[in-house]
Amino acid sequence: MATHVPHHEKITMPLRVLVTGYEVAPFYKRGGLGDVLGSLPISLQKLGIDVRLVMPDYRSIKKEYPQKKIASFKVVFDKKEEEVTIFQGTLPKTTVTVYFLSNRRLISVINLKKKRIEEFIFFDLAVTGFINWLEAQGEYVPDLVHCNDWHTALIPLLLQRRMRSTIKTLLTIHNLGYQGKGSFSALDQAGIQDEELKLLSRRSPVTELNALGEGILHADAISTVSPQYAKEISKVRNRTKIYHYFRMREKERGRGEVIEGIVNGIDEMVWSPISGRVITRKYSIQTVKKGKSENKAMLLKKLGLPDRPTFSFIGRMAAQKGIGTIITTMKELSSRECNVIFLGSGDPKIEQSVKQIAKEYPKSVRAEIEYSEDFAYLLYAGSDFLLVPSLYEPCGLIQMVAMKYGTIPVASRTGGLIDTIKDGETGFLFESGSAKGLVAAVDKALGVYGKPAILERMRQRCMEQDFSWDKSAKEYVKLYESILTSSS
Ligand code: GLC
Repeated sequence: MATHVPHHEKITMPLRVLVTGYEVAPFYKRGGLGDVLGSLPISLQKLGIDVRLVMPDYRSIKKEYPQKKIASFKVVFDKKEEEVTIFQGTLPKTTVTVYFLSNRRLISVINLKKKRIEEFIFFDLAVTGFINWLEAQGEYVPDLVHCNDWHTALIPLLLQRRMRSTIKTLLTIHNLGYQGKGSFSALDQAGIQDEELKLLSRRSPVTELNALGEGILHADAISTVSPQYAKEISKVRNRTKIYHYFRMREKERGRGEVIEGIVNGIDEMVWSPISGRVITRKYSIQTVKKGKSENKAMLLKKLGLPDRPTFSFIGRMAAQKGIGTIITTMKELSSRECNVIFLGSGDPKIEQSVKQIAKEYPKSVRAEIEYSEDFAYLLYAGSDFLLVPSLYEPCGLIQMVAMKYGTIPVASRTGGLIDTIKDGETGFLFESGSAKGLVAAVDKALGVYGKPAILERMRQRCMEQDFSWDKSAKEYVKLYESILTSSS
């Protein structure tokens, strides 16, 4: 592969940042990562960054959003030449360019759940080939590649080792719990030789490939999605395997490197009880009392629940989300005369126990085991409180969305939840995993529910919070600039 990459003595304007990740809303979204990558670039562009996105071309995308085929190139993978086709489009209603990389066998598969690590490595390799292609065109050469999570965490390694590129890289960790582990042989397929790996190659305690670990080693800078989670990452790391990658990085770069924590924003036009969609009655800060009670009446009627304080859980049914804490306390919660509604899907075991709870407490619990954005809007608008019992939460978006709808979060004291919720002012916090803590926080919430004036004020305070992307995007620009001007 050609390797003629300019070295940046000083920052060129506008900065060219190529953002890459596995989910970009609305093209493809499974969780918060998709929301982030679908929104952040729009705010970056407003700040003058020449930002473009590159993502996998899933088959499901093409039908709904216009794309045009612009070129194709070859990538050697597993000693065979594979063709990658580049399609180009934009984020809907914007001028932010999105490139979709397509390869029928290894990228465009329909069932992502069954994807193997080799396929992610292939995508990362395809991105480096794509950067080569961009360079050959001479029209847009990125100053920096912004990778997100383990799916794209091998790009810094591939850029440096396979392409001898000096393009800078930032790796943002959205969730340290997912690292992309697999066999080392997958790297051989990408043509990465043993000696090219900086890791404690194939020696204890590193016994398998860890894509996120490689990103931690090779990226020019690392960030995560809240200052609190950045702190937590540095504290827990000596108990985990991933720690060894951090330690290697520290050894190489000297101690004291800070992992930047930038809180995500939300799209305040979309997640809004005034300009958002699908709710029974739109409302503003001034009309929150009436607006919420009408939406709540509609919701409860739909679900056949009595009119009383209503708590909802919205999200992926994964262990991280702490649904177990709600389930343990269900008996106590039900004695408090309140409704509990679950919406989400995921781990079949967790889904099963949520269904079971709904059966046991038919008067107060409802379980909607599905991923439905329409229903989520209804819950944000119609619930009084949102339960966010996460065992850990790098940033969390739903608590911010709920607040914009005047729905008060009852959440664990962890990660981004701490950075976005003010205990007693815009929500109630409790120790993550603590059943007692959850019940105590619910009791506080019920106390406020019983005092309508205080309840209304608290709802208004929630709605007044600034969770716009513009604030966070400014911090990303500063971070990009500091990476580009640093000498290492
Ligand atoms: C992951 C994290 C979540 C974060 C999201 C976007 O899904 O678990 O906390 O909000 O990424 O950064």
